[in-house]
Amino acid sequence: MFIPTLLVLLCSVSADKFMTHEVVPDVLTISPKHELFAEWESGVETTQGNELTPTQVQKKPRLSWQAEEDGLYTVIMADPDAPSRENPSKREFLHWLVVNVKGSRLRSGTTVTDYIGAGPPEGTGPHRYVLSVWKQDRSLTVDDYGKVVSKNSAEGRLHFRTMDFARKATGEKDPRAVAANFFSVRNGLSLPLAVSLLSMISLLSSRLSPLSSSAIRFVRFVTLLSMESFSSHGIVPDVISKAPAALCTVKYDSGVEVSEGNVLTPTQVKNAPAVQWKGDNAKLYTLIMTDPDAPSRAEPTYREWHHWLVSNIPGTDLAKGDVLSAYVGSGPPPKTGLHRYIFLVYEQKGRIEDAEHGRLTNTSADNRGGWKAAKFAEKHGLGVPVAGNFYQAEYDDYVPLLYKQLGAA
Ligand SMILES: *[C@@H]1O[C@H](CO)[C@@H](O)[C@H](O)[C@H]1NC(C)=O
Repeated sequence: MFIPTLLVLLCSVSADKFMTHEVVPDVLTISPKHELFAEWESGVETTQGNELTPTQVQKKPRLSWQAEEDGLYTVIMADPDAPSRENPSKREFLHWLVVNVKGSRLRSGTTVTDYIGAGPPEGTGPHRYVLSVWKQDRSLTVDDYGKVVSKNSAEGRLHFRTMDFARKATGEKDPRAVAANFFSVRNGLSLPLAVSLLSMISLLSSRLSPLSSSAIRFVRFVTLLSMESFSSHGIVPDVISKAPAALCTVKYDSGVEVSEGNVLTPTQVKNAPAVQWKGDNAKLYTLIMTDPDAPSRAEPTYREWHHWLVSNIPGTDLAKGDVLSAYVGSGPPPKTGLHRYIFLVYEQKGRIEDAEHGRLTNTSADNRGGWKAAKFAEKHGLGVPVAGNFYQAEYDDYVPLLYKQLGAA
């Protein structure tokens, strides 16, 4: 009795990060048979709990596991720490679900839920992302997995349970993953951090020439890091032809902050936010907030619906600008998926007057739709935005109140 127990203990102590990181029992009931190999285009791999960045895992990884040539497999990626590890009230958030994978040829499978990378909300600490592979006992049908969920939809992603799906897929009461692995991600470089890193590095590079080439590469890397998100979310080219040079910070009184496509709720963004950018006090700026996904990203026939337009802002003193369109929060119609809400800051060459636009209040939806940020910029010779940021949101129960405010209920 004693010796086998000791052996088991020794094995689990040396090998089992699934338990020390509580992936067992938070996601799996027992550790997997094998470690899953997962590698991203960015060059990183999962190694049982290593920390990766949102940018590194933005695109789906390449996976391999010991597969039977004619076996069928299910691949799941889920985050048990939604919205945070301390308070996982929405556990699990499903990031990826592919079924009927023949052998380990991922492409042969049916993608039920499109891959979305890791983007934990600011201030929620590190999240664990668990990739697991299960051997199916049969080919799964729509009756087993329900409807297909696209990248832009949060539908069916919350309150997912890896083990429940695994039971269905394997036909077993207590299934064990053929292979699994996990990594952790915390909220990406925040703007203040990126800015201080940048200024630190440029100081260094001006003083210490041997460092300069790597410093310059790093500066480029940080810039790319933040600006790539405008392309990966299709804001370039849907709204602008070139990403802004920097991020602006956008903070709401509800406590949330906009961060390159993070998902916020209409309730959280109902009041106008504070916006900050690196502005020159001797210059005037225009701030735009616009939603290209009206009425939906799939069919944007009213692209764009603009939410906010303030021009002639001296430096960054938003309150002193001319409000051409008063702030209106997010009001995505039900069942239209996630909309993108984009903030753009432009440097003006001089004062702007726009009688044609007039002044739009927050009590009417007139003249908000079918508008174009790029057209406004062109009309006033604003060039490329100097700063920007964006979040995403879908319908919640604040939206009907907003429609009422706009006189459209
Ligand atoms: C609407 O605009 C009025 C007047 O500018 C302002 O007092 C009010 O707070 C705004 N409401 C919202 C929800 O933004």
